[in-house]
Amino acid sequence: MISRRTKIVATLGPASSSPEVLEKMIVAGLDVARLNFSHGTPDEHRARAQLVRDIAAKHGRFVALLGDLQGPKIRIAKFANKRIELAEGDSFRFSVTHPRDAGTQEVVGIDYPDLVKDCSVGDELLLDDGRVVMRVDATTADELHCTVLIGGPLSDNKGINRRGGGLTAPALTAKDKADIKLAADMNLDYLAVSFPRDAADMELARRLRDEAGSSAWLIAKIERAEAVADDEALDGLIRASDGVMVARGDLGVEIGDAELVGIQKKIILHARRNNKVVITATQMMESMIQNPMPTRAEVSDVANAVLDYTDAVMLSAESAAGEYPVEAIKAMARVCVGAEKHPTSIKSGHRLGQRFERSDESTALAAMYTANHFPGVKAIISLTESGYTPLIMSRIRSSVPIFAFSPHRDTQARVAMFRGVQTIPFDPAALPADKVSQSAVDELLKRNIVNVGDWVILTKGDTYHGTGGTNTMKILRVGDSLT
Ligand code: G6P
Ligand code: MG
Repeated sequence: MISRRTKIVATLGPASSSPEVLEKMIVAGLDVARLNFSHGTPDEHRARAQLVRDIAAKHGRFVALLGDLQGPKIRIAKFANKRIELAEGDSFRFSVTHPRDAGTQEVVGIDYPDLVKDCSVGDELLLDDGRVVMRVDATTADELHCTVLIGGPLSDNKGINRRGGGLTAPALTAKDKADIKLAADMNLDYLAVSFPRDAADMELARRLRDEAGSSAWLIAKIERAEAVADDEALDGLIRASDGVMVARGDLGVEIGDAELVGIQKKIILHARRNNKVVITATQMMESMIQNPMPTRAEVSDVANAVLDYTDAVMLSAESAAGEYPVEAIKAMARVCVGAEKHPTSIKSGHRLGQRFERSDESTALAAMYTANHFPGVKAIISLTESGYTPLIMSRIRSSVPIFAFSPHRDTQARVAMFRGVQTIPFDPAALPADKVSQSAVDELLKRNIVNVGDWVILTKGDTYHGTGGTNTMKILRVGDSLT
């Protein structure tokens, strides 16, 4: 059994699609495989998903699959010669009418006509994640005229953001809608929505997900300035989602890198308070694209996210296109375990002084309070349908492992994202009622997770089906005869 609590999400791509590499990644600790719908074909995604499921099953591991929708990232069109080099002070234009494949040193086409309407004189545009910066000097009906403030190379299809955010493209494109169907067909466990502006965008995604027949949990990527403008906007988006991602790439471009660290802490805190999962993403081990070892700054970044109590840390290009995908997972795993030893990862002040809204929530949180204050407790068993009860539990800081006992494949995979939660397949409905506790504890004993004499907490409900029914907490001693 793995003692690491923080989970690792890794993006799959050309560097991580062979069975050999994927197997090493899964053995090294991959918990959630991310399929990036911005790249690759449906067949490639299907093949990767199948490999992940086969290899995980072979090793008795539970790996969730997350599909990440491309979203309305606004991009420039192409250059006649693929790439240009811009210098500070150069004039440059973005044009709605210029031919799409014939950009020059002076002008390039744009995919998104409303950019011209949305921008005004004085706005700063950030290209290629902020590597090139321009100021808008004039606007016409079909062009933006700009001056280059920070020069550099600019190549085909690079993204454009505006400093301060506010570009209004709707969050779900025609491609995203098709990819939601693909995700449903592939039975993905999570679906990440890119650039949602507000709760309404997530509600639309949820409706499309339902229509497609998927039960994937929806992750809102927090990457627009509007999403973090105030607590109301952020909490609205969080509440409309099942989880969030601190999508530091685009978010950093929109709000500036200086405020990013503080905002990361706030997003994580708000997600947890609202009983949602949270992933911290982008450039966590960026130098490992080329190097087998992370820098001290990267180690510090991952550890900091762990101390912020993120559920998961994520690899992007490091695992999708880098030279060291397996080493990157190993490095992350090592850093997580190290950071988790810090006392702030164990003590909890979660929602002290606040009210709870539900009886299962109250039971789950009581279980965690007991686990954290009764040193004999070595494990928590949570019987669950959907994963909801262990999700609530894992919002609380603790060093006691939480075991989600569920008969359902999708729940077994889903909980792989939750910090401190591991899966044990278990079907209480298949047992006589008076044997359930004993069998559940025996599962832990069989796996050497607990020993005779240890204490274990078990939560369940009165019936063994239907989510939301948790109403019982038992404190059991391993070795006693239990009912
Ligand atoms: C299991 C228990 C039920 C409980 C349910 C909670 O099925 O046996 O008694 O109601 O889990 O599921 P949830 O999805 O709310 O965590
Ligand atoms: Mg992004």
